[in-house]
Amino acid sequence: MYRAGIICLSDKGYKGEREDKSTGIIEEILTKNGFLVVEKVLIPDDHKMIVETLKDLSDNKRMDFIVTTGGTGFSSRDNTPEATREILTKEVPGIAEAIRAYSMTITKRAMLSRGVSGIRRNSLIVNLPGSPKAVEETLTYIIDTVTHGIDLIVKGSQDCARG
Ligand code: MTE
Repeated sequence: MYRAGIICLSDKGYKGEREDKSTGIIEEILTKNGFLVVEKVLIPDDHKMIVETLKDLSDNKRMDFIVTTGGTGFSSRDNTPEATREILTKEVPGIAEAIRAYSMTITKRAMLSRGVSGIRRNSLIVNLPGSPKAVEETLTYIIDTVTHGIDLIVKGSQDCARG
């Protein structure tokens, strides 16, 4: 069973001014798909804190999969993509492209999410937008293929034949 961590980036959520519904939706989808959610963190949209939390979940807590939600838009406090890119060892643009391509079939506003995806050590990291609706749409769409990607990292498998 793969170990997953969820990081919610929200100034308002952190201050208790907005309820975080997205983490619960992510947890439900991950659990249904065979992941064990071992870490859930809610932090403000602070670049340094995002970097430190991502490093901690990847390097110390050894997550196989780290999902972030929020902070991918245009506000001056939307720092998730920059912080994530800073700690990635390999970018995996196809996952972010798939998220936007599929989301564009639902809403043209998907083009406004700047989320990135990639690998740090043995962790696959994916930025999702912040809204519960967006989280459900995007994670449901990518989850089976992402699981195969994690298989490739964890098992070091070269076998991409299936699917
Ligand atoms: N993607 C999907 N699938 N569904 C959505 O409703 N909302 C968009 C976009 N991506 C949306 C989506 C909107 S309105 C914004 S502003 C961006 O995600 C950025 O969201 P964030 O700042 O909460 O990360």
